[in-house]
This record gives sequence, structure tokens and C-alpha cells, in this order.
Amino acid sequence: MTFSRRDFVKTSVLGAVAAGVGTQARAESAAQNSPQEHGAHAGPGKRPIIICANNGYAYLENAFSFLKGGGDTLDAALQVVKGPEDDPKDDSVGLGGIPNEEGVVELDACCMHGPTRRAGSVGGVRNIKNVSLVAKAVMLHTGHVMLVGEGAERFAVDMGYPRENLLTENSRKIWLLWKQFNSTDDWWGPGLDDPHWQPPSVKPQAELWKERIKNLQAHAAELGIEPARQLAAVRKVVFPPTGTIHCSALNDKGEISGCTTTSGLAFKLPGRLGDSPIIGAGCYTDQDIGSAGATGSGEENIKVAGAHSIIENMRHGMSPQDAGMDALRRIVRNYNGDMNKLRFVDMTYYILRKDGAYAGVSLWEGYSAGNPHKIAVHDGTRRADVTTSLLKGYSQEFPPFPDIPEELKKNSEYLK
Ligand code: GLY
Repeated sequence: MTFSRRDFVKTSVLGAVAAGVGTQARAESAAQNSPQEHGAHAGPGKRPIIICANNGYAYLENAFSFLKGGGDTLDAALQVVKGPEDDPKDDSVGLGGIPNEEGVVELDACCMHGPTRRAGSVGGVRNIKNVSLVAKAVMLHTGHVMLVGEGAERFAVDMGYPRENLLTENSRKIWLLWKQFNSTDDWWGPGLDDPHWQPPSVKPQAELWKERIKNLQAHAAELGIEPARQLAAVRKVVFPPTGTIHCSALNDKGEISGCTTTSGLAFKLPGRLGDSPIIGAGCYTDQDIGSAGATGSGEENIKVAGAHSIIENMRHGMSPQDAGMDALRRIVRNYNGDMNKLRFVDMTYYILRKDGAYAGVSLWEGYSAGNPHKIAVHDGTRRADVTTSLLKGYSQEFPPFPDIPEELKKNSEYLK
């Protein structure tokens, strides 16, 4: 049996409105109660320092040594993001990224080099895994800032990057599961910002969702997805992730750079670009101020020019944390604070000021309970800090989703 989210979305609006009231109340209280509202890292920080999304944590040690030894700030940041790009088990970036609705992996990336004030970007690139390095090549070897699609792929090959199949068995099976669940119309609208968009309901349908999640898990087993990965695969089908890694690096001289790379929104329409390749949205670096980048709902971040807005906020005196919170509030404003819509949005900003002060801020606390958003940091000590969230709660708490048993969490490197 196949079933689509669209069918489900057409059901009870009444229940959704009731559910939304509760979420809104909790959101207001989160804003009032956040002890870190005015910036835990507002004072000068340490240099050198590298910050990144948490999927870069494992690559920080080597990149930090490289930076400390005099390596270029952009090369240090690229060293971090190349790790997940090369890793077939990271399905948010590069090799093994979750594909578009046709089962084709399309990658986006951009970078900015503070010291030389240059930028490069590529979008919708197929068959080349290290698109962050290709973005740097665009910056260095062309008179352009951005190349997309087939032209970007041909350019990458000319620059010596090999063509390879980016679709791993793991990602292909998740895509097959998605096809059974959503057919091909998931991103054909109405979109979240369309007045005709209807939120799904919670309580009246909870049992139905339980049934659907159980069915999906059974399909996952039929497809040969191993037990430890089945619930994670189902979660990705129900909540198509946006993956992505951003990294910013600052050396002891105060030089700063940033880059962002992604396989983008899972099951997207072919040709869709998110925020990651957009200079000023997924990444922005200004040598005079600092560097910022984003992971999360690309469409929402493009509309607030997130990374650029944050840098401009810091230029006008805001702390990294306040600058990021302001960008998040602009996203909330775009939906007039409608929590029925905002709970389908996820956004995290990674912010580094030129003096080494930094912040990780997110719209929600995480995807689900026990799964907080984190920013990975290395300034001599490597750590992962939980981000400060604007809203209390989790972006993916709807529909009610079974907890992934602790035993499976421990054994699976594929779970968020
Ligand atoms: N933030 C990644 C994307 O939306 O494509």
C-alpha cells in the first residue's frame, strides 16, 4: 500500500490548530527564559579557532593542527568539510548524499576567503563528490563566482576531479522507501509559505501515524535496510532532512574564511538549489567582521539572507549570539509567528566573530528529544556545544515518532 503525506495533510485542521496553541505557548516561554539570550560568548574568544556543524567534529583535530601551523584559513575549513564529503556513511553531504526525487545525487557548495575577499560557488553538481573544493576552484580559476549544473560538472572534471557514482546502496534504499511513501509529488506544493498549505493534525491521527511508521519499517526491512538503520531511514522519509556542513576558521592573525557544502534537501526536485551555494545565505565571510554559515531549511534561510544578515548585525555591534537570534526571528516573522508552520522549519547558524567570539544558535532545540543541535568547536580544546535555541521544543516532534532504542543508537553511526 502506498500513502502520501498530501493525503494525510488534508485531514483534520481542527486538531492541528489545537495542537499549535500548545506549541506557541512553549515557544513564548522559551524566549523569555533563555539564560543565554544575550550571548554566552559575547566577549573576545581565543584564536586560532575553527567552528563547524557537528558532523565535522571528527575532522577538527587535523584541521586545527594545520591552521595552528600556519595553514590558510579557507584550506583549514575545507579540510573539515571534505571529511563528510568523502564519507559514504554521511548521507547529508558529498558521496552517499540522499538523492533528488529521481534518485540522482546533486550537490551544492560555496566558500569565501576573507584575506583576499574572494568567493566561489557551485550548485546542482552531479557525479563529483568534493564540491567544496570545486567551489574554491571556481574562485581561483575563473572570472565567475558561481557555476551550476552540467557546466559546473564539466569544469570540475577539467580541474581534475574524477566523476564517480555518488549514490550509495544506503541512500538508494532510503530513496526507494521514500518513493513508496510519497510517490513523486512531495515537493510539488503547496509549499509551507503558500496560503493553501494545511498543517497535519496531531492527536486524532496519532494512531494512524503509528500504523504508517510501522508499515514503513516493514517496507524498510523488505528493501534490505538493516535493522539498526530502519527507523532512521523511516525518519528521513517522514522528515526529509537538509543535511549540510558549514565550517568557519580564524587564525591567530585574525584572517577568517568559511565554506558550506551539502547534498541539499532530500528528494528535492531536480535542479533545486538551497541556501548552501548562495553567498550570503548558506555562508558569508567578511574579513572585517567575521564568518557565518547555516544548516537547515534552505528555502527559509535564503529569504532572510541568513549568513549575511548575521554579519551585518555584528557589524552594527550585536554579539554573535544576538546577531544569530535576530536572523532566526526574521524567519519567525516571515510566518507571523505561526507555530503550526514554524515547527516544520529547522535552522541552525554557526557564527564566528573576528576576535574569536562565537555562537551556535538554532530555531528549535533539536530534531527530537535527546537529539540537540550542536556546534563543534576547536580553539585548542575540541568540543561540541549544544546550541542556544530561540524556541523550546523540537522541529520533528510531529508526527509522534517512536524513540529509537538506546541499544540501536549505540550501534548505528547512521543515526543523527
Ligand atoms: N541547507 C541545505 C539545503 O536546504 O539545501
